[in-house]
Amino acid sequence: MLDIHIEEHDIDRQLRADVALGLAAEPKWLPPKWFYDARGSELFEEITRLPEYYPTRAERAILTERAAEIALLTEAKTLVELGSGSSEKTRLLLDAFQRRGTLGAFVPLDVSRTALAEAVAALTADYPELSVRGVVGDMIDDLRHLPDGDNRVVAFLGGTIGNLVPSERAMFLSALRAVLGEGEWLLVGTDLVKDPAVLVPAYDDAAGVTAAFNHNVLHVVNQRLDADFDVDAFAHVAVWDPAQEWIEMRLRATTAQRVHVKALDLTVEFAAGEDLRTEISAKFRREGVEAELAASGFALRHWWTDPQGLFAVSLAQAVTV
Ligand code: SAH
Ligand code: AVI
Repeated sequence: MLDIHIEEHDIDRQLRADVALGLAAEPKWLPPKWFYDARGSELFEEITRLPEYYPTRAERAILTERAAEIALLTEAKTLVELGSGSSEKTRLLLDAFQRRGTLGAFVPLDVSRTALAEAVAALTADYPELSVRGVVGDMIDDLRHLPDGDNRVVAFLGGTIGNLVPSERAMFLSALRAVLGEGEWLLVGTDLVKDPAVLVPAYDDAAGVTAAFNHNVLHVVNQRLDADFDVDAFAHVAVWDPAQEWIEMRLRATTAQRVHVKALDLTVEFAAGEDLRTEISAKFRREGVEAELAASGFALRHWWTDPQGLFAVSLAQAVTV
């Protein structure tokens, strides 16, 4: 079953606002949320299978190792997943929770209706004893639509928290804390700071799948807002920012461009070589994760990494400060 909390016209309204704001800004930017139409979600799934893109495999290794322990520690009755996408790795948690016998409901939330609908159909078939209710919504604005209950575990996997800038992360964690009761749980995946020689290829793969994913945001704006971005006239760029400790993806205009966004009656000029920023992907250290969680009322209870120390999964509990 799918609950729709953002309708297509709301999505259009948000996209218009983001495009109007981002293309008028200096430097220009677009939020990563707009990568994920049906094609963008497919491209992301393809990225997760690339040899250079280690985060999915590393997080899967951690969940394989720790799912039974997570089930034992939390005794979850409801599992909520934010930015759930295909929910593939989440099956490891569902299996462990089911073996423990506590779980009654799974509530995946995603802005991508197509990815969510596919995941919900597959999970409903594969977990007939579980109530599976997908929520099409925004992981910050629609937190109030999460199901009531106690012993909820909120999973936020894949390192997607790193796609939020620090101020958004603080807002998100506080909003989440506000809807949880004391003692409820957050399970969050974070990619870790490491050698840029490993990080950069993960965002600039040899097969060009990440480049296609990055370009997809221009296709989305062209389709939804009747814009005329010449997609091939922008180059995919992935840079490591050592001061901020994040990867930044950009689209660089290879020549001077004039773009018209018909739905907004907006004309935007790009200089040759000008960048449009499309995503940050922050990389973390344990101290930073622990501090950000604590600042929003979550106590870090467990920190697990894969054998190579590439990625971490944290289990935190809502506390009163
Ligand atoms: N959790 C999955 C998918 C990660 S891809 C994994 O670990 O593999 C990021 C997902 O977050 C996509 O499915 C995308 O549609 C979703 N997403 C991005 N921004 C969002 C937002 N603001 N609100 C809800 N979902 C969002
Ligand atoms: C969803 N998110 C955690 C991915 C990441 O690694 O930041 C999105 C992505 N961008 C480029 N490749 C994958």
